[in-house]
Amino acid sequence: MTFRTPMIAAAAVMFSTSLLAQNAPKLKIGLMLPYTGTYASLGNAIENGFKLYLSEQGNKFSGREVEFFKVDDESDPSKATDNVNKLVKRDNVDVLIGSVHSGVAMAMAKVAKDNGTLLIVPNAGADAVTGPMCAPNIFRTSFSNWQPGYAMGNVMAAKGLKKVVTITWKYAAGDESVRGFKEGFEKGGGSVVKELSLPFPNVEFQALLTEIAATKPDAVYTFFAGGGAVKFVKDYAAAGLKKAIPLYGAGFITDGTLDAQGEAAEGMYTTLHYADSLGTARDNAFRLAYAKSFKMQPDVYAVQGYDAAQVLAIGLKAVKGDLSKKAEFAAAVEKEKVDSPRGAFTISKAHNPVQDIYLRQVVGKENKLVGIASKALADPARGCKS
Ligand code: BEZ
Repeated sequence: MTFRTPMIAAAAVMFSTSLLAQNAPKLKIGLMLPYTGTYASLGNAIENGFKLYLSEQGNKFSGREVEFFKVDDESDPSKATDNVNKLVKRDNVDVLIGSVHSGVAMAMAKVAKDNGTLLIVPNAGADAVTGPMCAPNIFRTSFSNWQPGYAMGNVMAAKGLKKVVTITWKYAAGDESVRGFKEGFEKGGGSVVKELSLPFPNVEFQALLTEIAATKPDAVYTFFAGGGAVKFVKDYAAAGLKKAIPLYGAGFITDGTLDAQGEAAEGMYTTLHYADSLGTARDNAFRLAYAKSFKMQPDVYAVQGYDAAQVLAIGLKAVKGDLSKKAEFAAAVEKEKVDSPRGAFTISKAHNPVQDIYLRQVVGKENKLVGIASKALADPARGCKS
């Protein structure tokens, strides 16, 4: 077909592109998140954030309508491979979004690496996902467990604290958060005198709190999240430790939890890649839109879900909706800045955010911004060969 004028040719291209968009098959998105258990509220916030960004794009990605397939992974690594295979083999999804728990995300990453399905991790910090398991089709929009821990190690060493006890759940997220903390803290001259833990998702903290009281450290560093974080902070205060031995943590300990923790969390310092009072135009607009849509305030998990949708949109735009173009998808995501409510960030070659880690303090019902603990902090991506 030939066209007599450039205008007619341009109109024909637009017409055929819109026809293509109309005829493009729906984009099948597999949401594998916890909707029950101690991390249920985290899974819901991620889904809300993801859907908020999608609704802001007219409920389409690159002209393609979306169909969701959902699995409640229960934060249970032993069921994770079966669960992810349901989405990949039974539902034939184009994209996997998940999950919250590091052990579950590791199983998802293994399946994604083996069969090439696009995976965007909207929370789980397992260092290996963007370390030894890194791959061109695996991305993360949250953090590595190392990042907030390392930043808090620097902060606590700079405060002159010397002897610290750590306490966490015994699984990848807790272990790696403590390892990151130790790296930063010991570099600054501090030492970890005791590492306490209990199995995930147990919340019988009493014996460990007694041990902390007997050890009398200068401070405690902790990783807990969701329902377990609520109980830990309340139990810590109820045991009379709050005034005697200050409690610090990776910010998950007070994110999305403050309504339930009340007075017990007041004054706590934490490090994370989001705070409730950033005050930027971008964050204010996001918070308003989220509150309008879901009748609640967003938290860090909502931001990570929102940004998972943004990263998907960036990649899909570059490949015009064709997910078979994996190298072009990855190149676009690695090149572009993600305009996040947390502040703009980039995605590293290993596909983890390079981002500011904030120091926050609990004031009333907010994690208030105190300052930047680590500027543009990149995960070391140890073991990533891509
Ligand atoms: C994790 O398992 O990686 C994780 C869970 C909740 C909050 C942060 C990290």
